[in-house]
Amino acid sequence: MNISMLSKKNDTGCDGLSGPASPSVADEDTKPVKDAPPQGDPIAKKMLGPSTQCVHAGEKRQKSEGAIATPIYMASTFTFESTDAVVRFARGEEPREEYGRYGSPNEKSVEAKLAALDGAEDAILYSSGMAAIVGLLMTKLNAGDEIVFFDQCYHRSREFCSKHLARFGVVTHQVPTGDFAALEAAITPQTKMLVSESPTNPHLTVIDLEKFAAVGKAFEIETLIDATLATPLNIKPIGYGIDYVLHSATKYLGGHNDLLAGAICGSKQSLEPVRAMRGILGSVNAPQSLYQLERGLKTFGLRMQRHNENGLAVAKFLESHPRVERVYYPGIESHSTHEIAVEQMKGFGGLISFEVKDADWRDTSRIVDAVRIPRIAPSLGGVESLIEQPYVMSYYNYSPADRKRFGIADNMIRMSCGIEDGEDLISDLEQALTT
Ligand SMILES: Cc1ncc(COP(=O)(O)O)c(C=O)c1O
Repeated sequence: MNISMLSKKNDTGCDGLSGPASPSVADEDTKPVKDAPPQGDPIAKKMLGPSTQCVHAGEKRQKSEGAIATPIYMASTFTFESTDAVVRFARGEEPREEYGRYGSPNEKSVEAKLAALDGAEDAILYSSGMAAIVGLLMTKLNAGDEIVFFDQCYHRSREFCSKHLARFGVVTHQVPTGDFAALEAAITPQTKMLVSESPTNPHLTVIDLEKFAAVGKAFEIETLIDATLATPLNIKPIGYGIDYVLHSATKYLGGHNDLLAGAICGSKQSLEPVRAMRGILGSVNAPQSLYQLERGLKTFGLRMQRHNENGLAVAKFLESHPRVERVYYPGIESHSTHEIAVEQMKGFGGLISFEVKDADWRDTSRIVDAVRIPRIAPSLGGVESLIEQPYVMSYYNYSPADRKRFGIADNMIRMSCGIEDGEDLISDLEQALTT
């Protein structure tokens, strides 16, 4: 890292660490992982560590009144000093804030930080991860278009694609996750987007992003990867040629189980209409929420290290436990996509799914009820560990056939390892598994 960069400014008036001119993240002391090519400014080629970016990227070096933290701009609209100022703004001569639905100062600094972390030209924030998916797909797809998506995914994303996009005349094809032959076979001249998560929720399947991007490029179709479970610290899909990266910032990015937010990262040009559409949809965040997200991101590097450590330690413990039939965690050799995970990921995250041996859903629920540290709740990626049974929490009203189709076993437990001490999580699970 070159310390002199900390005082350099780019053409955005922010630190050289920020936004469009920011460097991609290089963690030189860990294994090589493809980073996104540095954007813009040649100084960006000198790379900064991820934690430095988490703390500084995107923020103005000198803020209002000298405050070190970004002030919360509690305003729904922004005043003009004169009609001439309005005209200059309308002509595009004086970029600035106008009205809260189109953007805000708190939003700008978080967007620039996220773009820097993902090695992307731009990022757009939304009021939730789902709002981000809906916003992107509603902008990019027209009646008659088709999308193809890998079938292991967050159930609401699947529901939006298969149930709601259909109402607007968009045809969706679900193909088995990781089956590239099926992916290509489902492509037609109308296909406009290829969609996947990596790793997937809740099976933690890691997608070969190089292949996924190559299919998109070969057929001239845009690609979207939901990297919520990976975060920009563990995978940077832009570096593999993926067009759009989606994050539920509700999870690791916010990190404290106290806010909802979502983000899409990509090129400035491709995101321009997406941003315009968000200005119509109005799915923006309140300034306090944005402040909390920015604050959460400051410690994201440190938190993610602990999530990665705890995830791996707990997965190894579960794998060796006689009551556990199967563990889904990309960091262990028995996982079907371990090899590609090792190639692509810097760490494997804090989320683990596992199946309990010879247990029906009731036996399984007794283990969930017996843990003392993780709390029973949906979501993941926060400092507090969470535990749930996907069948009960998210798939209770699905038919057994659909649950089977989506790989949701009655005896499956999903645990999001927080940042507690790993030994405590393991001894807690140990006592719960003896119930
Ligand atoms: C992989 C993934 N993507 C998207 C979402 C939706 O995010 P949000 O809850 O912020 O709308 C979730 C939520 O659990 C998720 O797990």
